[in-house]
Amino acid sequence: MKELLPERAREYKERAHEVAEGAVRPVAAELDRTGEYPWSVVEALKDAELMGIWIPEEYGGQGAGVLDLCVVVEELSRACGGVGVAYAVNALGSFPIILGGTEEQKQRWLPRVASGESLIAFGLSEMASGSDAGSLRTRAVLDGDSYVVDGDKKWNTNGGAASLYTVYCSTRPDRGSRGISPIVIEKGTPGFEIGKREDLLGIRCVPVHELHFRGCRVPKENLLGDLEGKGFGNAMMTLDRARPGVAAQAVGLAQGALEWAMRYTSERQQFGQSVMSFQAIQFMLADMATQVEAARQLVYSAARAIDAGHSGASKYAAMCKVFASDTAMRVTTDAVQLFGGYGYCRDYPVEKYMRDAKITQIYEGANQIQRLVIGRALTKEATGLGSLLDVRVEHFPAAEEAEAAELVEA
Ligand code: CAA
Repeated sequence: MKELLPERAREYKERAHEVAEGAVRPVAAELDRTGEYPWSVVEALKDAELMGIWIPEEYGGQGAGVLDLCVVVEELSRACGGVGVAYAVNALGSFPIILGGTEEQKQRWLPRVASGESLIAFGLSEMASGSDAGSLRTRAVLDGDSYVVDGDKKWNTNGGAASLYTVYCSTRPDRGSRGISPIVIEKGTPGFEIGKREDLLGIRCVPVHELHFRGCRVPKENLLGDLEGKGFGNAMMTLDRARPGVAAQAVGLAQGALEWAMRYTSERQQFGQSVMSFQAIQFMLADMATQVEAARQLVYSAARAIDAGHSGASKYAAMCKVFASDTAMRVTTDAVQLFGGYGYCRDYPVEKYMRDAKITQIYEGANQIQRLVIGRALTKEATGLGSLLDVRVEHFPAAEEAEAAELVEA
């Protein structure tokens, strides 16, 4: 239903679709096998002017919104989930600068990301701090004109491929999450090493690495804006804007798997007829298609809420991430089922969709954390709903009278 999108988003979606069909689909299986970075796709995205579209125009970008970002990620992921995240992670890494950088910092780093000259990654998680992001331990100590960074980051998507890293460090360990500061660290800075590459189940063309910092001296001007000790909020606001991108990746994967399942079941003959002509199969496909469309519309409306500056952005970002990623896992698993034995082997592409989909339930905040964010938002909203006692009195005035009479009798 792309007709329902605003014109600008529709135009981005069409352009991304062309890149996905022309430059991603033909290489997706090979990249999955070799684990090579999709550099050829980055070039195609540059040619199509799709890199860094979310960066404001004054810093070389196109000032596109989260909705625009989502439709691009969705289309790329429909062809390859790894490519979808390799692209989207640049938004995750650069949102902290857009949200909290000084004018000088934005001028320094954002044009490089907007042009695609530099990729950027996001360093929040550590071995011992994943969901509990506020407990991170990487230290940054001010020493003259530099911060000296020591510590290790985990699960760094685009690690190694990126030249810029937004790294959350503790500058005031005594203050917990109120002592966290984001520092942009360039690849090649002495004391900064790209560590082990993780051997992942899916999204295999994207390098996910450990990062190590040992006495790494970074100019103090690399600490974003006035965010000394205020970095946790910056990370959370970043994730609010980036999570719909993960949800869009999930929608793209689910849509892609659904299309493969439709093609396969319409061609595959059993008992003298196409498998798709059996009602049991049609019902499965009907459920899959309905869930994909529901997820898509929730992603689009959450993205639009964020673009409009809606106060419930956190909740909607979490809702769409939960719903779309759970949908992707169900739909891609059903697609494997519909392919039967062929779905379980690498001769056909659907098993890759299932492997790629799994991570969308985990990264940028596990779905249990998204439910926690939604639950906390509902708890706050509940306090604004008024007391149930008032409702009871309004609807059943007799109850109040009866209570009063009981009191008198007593
Ligand atoms: N926007 C702005 N500020 C926010 C906020 C938001 N959405 N959410 C919380 N804050 C602020 C709070 O107001 C509070 O501020 P004060 O200190 O001034 O009071 C502060 O942050 C702490 O908030 P909480 O008490 O709610 O924090 P918490 O410790 O309970 O944690 C959490 C909340 C939601 C669990 C959070 O830790 C979280 O989102 N965890 C998951 C982290 C995550 O997504 N990690 C993935 C990293 S990226 C990745 O996966 C790798 C990759 O490369 C793709």
